[in-house]
Amino acid sequence: MKGILLAGGNGRRLNPLTEITNKHLLPVYDRPMIVYPLQTLVEAGIDEILIVSGKDHAGGFLKLLGSGRDFGCRLWYEIQEEAGGIAQALGLAEKFVDGDNIAVILGDNIFEDSFKKEVAEFNEQQGACVFLKKMKDARRFGVAELKDDKIVNIEEKPQSPKSDLAVTGFYLYDNNVFNIIQNLKPSGRGELEITDVNNYYIKEGLMKANIVEGNWTDAGTFESLYRANRIARNIALEKEGLNAQQILQRDSELLE
Ligand code: G1P
Repeated sequence: MKGILLAGGNGRRLNPLTEITNKHLLPVYDRPMIVYPLQTLVEAGIDEILIVSGKDHAGGFLKLLGSGRDFGCRLWYEIQEEAGGIAQALGLAEKFVDGDNIAVILGDNIFEDSFKKEVAEFNEQQGACVFLKKMKDARRFGVAELKDDKIVNIEEKPQSPKSDLAVTGFYLYDNNVFNIIQNLKPSGRGELEITDVNNYYIKEGLMKANIVEGNWTDAGTFESLYRANRIARNIALEKEGLNAQQILQRDSELLE
């Protein structure tokens, strides 16, 4: 199984933070944002990873992550010339993937959970798998519609969501994903949408959905970037041995 880490896009919703750097290089607590999804892939047992980024700040990724040695993986780099959507960026990975199954993660997604088991189980399988998280503001995301516990459709940023289950930015696909991407048409916002790819698998009856138990956020807006910092800090402090109560105590001391 190969890993694809998608770090393209303009990050417009974070202007002016993204005037002079790429969104995925911005700090989230004690490390640059992209390190979190990279660690999620490595921790899931994936050690060959392609990073797809725009050309403006590709050098920043190289400087930060290098060969991948310090992160326990081997890294490759690919350039998305213009921001044309998540599915378009993923399409650029076809040669690198070379017939294998893939795990895809968005460069601004921060997960508490490990996907080791799901990745191992999917390794030789056909089809696709999405990971859903119950969210209060699901309409900001792709939203899953379920019938009898089965996923029947995904709507991208719906006005009236059919559930509170957001589709997170971690996906598992078989190699057919590249044929599906080649036949996609651009959406209303002129992009090749990952949601269209996922709906194709759903219609074919080849999509599985898992629930994410731990904390998750993306970090593409000021509020979600702030939330990402909180989640990353909580995880780091818990690793240091602090419990939830002690972390809250530290929070209130900060503002005294
Ligand atoms: C993208 C996907 C959306 C998904 C989200 C997760 O949205 O299009 O389906 O829920 O990532 O982070 P975007 O961040 O491009 O608005």
